[in-house]
Amino acid sequence: MVTSGYLGVNGFGAGASKKLYGTSPVSSVKTLGNNRISSTDSFQYSKDSLHYFYTEDYLKSALDSNPEIKRILTEKGIKPELNVQNLRHIQNNHAADTQAIAKGIIRHLPKSEQYQIDTDAIHKASYLHDIGKVFIPDEILNKPAMLDSYEYEIMKSHSELGYEILKNSSLDEKTKELVKYHHQDRLGTGYPAADIDLSNDINLQILSIADKYSALTENRSYKSAMSPEQALGIIYADVQKNKVHPAVFRGLAAHLRESRKLAPQNC
Ligand SMILES: [Fe+2]
Ligand SMILES: [Fe+2]
Repeated sequence: MVTSGYLGVNGFGAGASKKLYGTSPVSSVKTLGNNRISSTDSFQYSKDSLHYFYTEDYLKSALDSNPEIKRILTEKGIKPELNVQNLRHIQNNHAADTQAIAKGIIRHLPKSEQYQIDTDAIHKASYLHDIGKVFIPDEILNKPAMLDSYEYEIMKSHSELGYEILKNSSLDEKTKELVKYHHQDRLGTGYPAADIDLSNDINLQILSIADKYSALTENRSYKSAMSPEQALGIIYADVQKNKVHPAVFRGLAAHLRESRKLAPQNC
């Protein structure tokens, strides 16, 4: 059982305990019965734990208490149903992976960038960033082909839905902002449109690059996993377009070299 959470601690700090922060909930979830989620699953987790936000109880309460979620769902033509099994897969794989990659990038950033970094918010947002996918219908989330434009519009709503799911929680505003804009880039060509300047937000850059690398290197219903070299090449193309901060790219490459996913001569 996870009884400690993120409050008052630096999730990436020296000596951070895996037990404390619960980098992956896999073992806890398994004790629930092979990913079975009961209506009382929130009792397994402290409200201070990041896992708590993934519980069906929390998600239901967010849907019931925040009318903005139903407004977005109605506007997009999405049924107000919780796709919990798919969300559990994201939590145990892509969310945990994105969190680990973000941690690796931070560790390799130059000191000149370190002072701007909100390590705790990145730690939380990287784990929660796709929580809005709980409302994306299975036939879109797991479609074994590229999405058409209508389906893509529905898929894109997950970042705003994630923000609305977390909006009334005790999480800090920076974490919520990162979740909302994790598909934005330095030029503002991502989604959703932002009414604040995010071009120099290195925290958002770290999250969005960790997210993108994780997505490119994992199997999805519509594609096979890319190699680290291929994924890095795609992200480097965005560096050249000024969509990605070069220091964040170099931090990712250094992290991959250190974790032996990339040969030294490749970057
Ligand atoms: Fe996303
Ligand atoms: Fe993601």
